[in-house]
Amino acid sequence: MIVLVGYVSIEGQTRKIAEAIAARIEKDGHRAVLFNVMSMAEYALERPDAAILCAPIHAGRYPAPFVDFVRREKDWLSSVPNAFVSVSLFIRSDIEAEQEEARHFPDALKTETGWAPDHVHHAAGAFSFSEYDFFKRWMMKRMAEREGAPSDTGEDVEFTDWSEIDRFVSVFLWSADR
Ligand SMILES: Cc1cc2nc3c(=O)[nH]c(=O)nc-3n(C[C@H](O)[C@H](O)[C@H](O)COP(=O)(O)O)c2cc1C
Repeated sequence: MIVLVGYVSIEGQTRKIAEAIAARIEKDGHRAVLFNVMSMAEYALERPDAAILCAPIHAGRYPAPFVDFVRREKDWLSSVPNAFVSVSLFIRSDIEAEQEEARHFPDALKTETGWAPDHVHHAAGAFSFSEYDFFKRWMMKRMAEREGAPSDTGEDVEFTDWSEIDRFVSVFLWSADR
C-alpha cells in the first residue's frame, strides 16, 4: 500500500509524529509518502491507497492551510481508508473541561471541511519552549503553570506517547489492508 502521511507543524512536534507514523508504515512493508501540506508541493504522482493526516491545535484551531487542504481534498480522502491525528496539549490536561474541548476539536474540522475521518487519534503534543518567540513563551508558560506542567526550565517538554502512536498506526494499517 502507498500511504500518504500529510501534516502541518508550526513548532515541529507534529512533524516528529508524522515522521514516526511514516517510519512505522515502512516498517510494516508499505510505502509512506510524507507530505508537508504547507510546502505546497505536489504530494504524490500516484494516487495513495490510504491517508493519515496530522495537525496541531494552536489557539483552539488547526492551522488554516491545513483546513484549506482538507476542504480541497476531502472527496478523494473519503474515497480511501483515512485517519486524522489531532495534536494538542489540552488532551493531557488535568482540567476536565480542557480535555473535553480537545476531544471536540476534530468535530469543528468536520464542520468546516465536510471530512469525516474513518479514525481519529488524539496525540498529546509538546511545550516547545526553544521554538517560541517572546509572546508565545509567555503564553505557554501560563498554560504550563495552569496545567501543572514544568514551565520554568526553558527545556522542551514532550508529552507524546510514542507507543500509542505505534498502536494506532498498526490498527489503521490492519483495517486499511483488508
Ligand atoms: C501559540 C500556541 C497556542 C496553542 N494553543 C493550544 C490550544 O488552544 N489548545 C491546545 O490543546 N494546545 C494548544 N497549543 C499546544 C500545541 O498544540 C502543542 O504545543 C503542539 O505540540 C504543537 O504542535 P507543532 O509543534 O507541530 O506546532 C498551543 C501552542 C502554541 C505554541
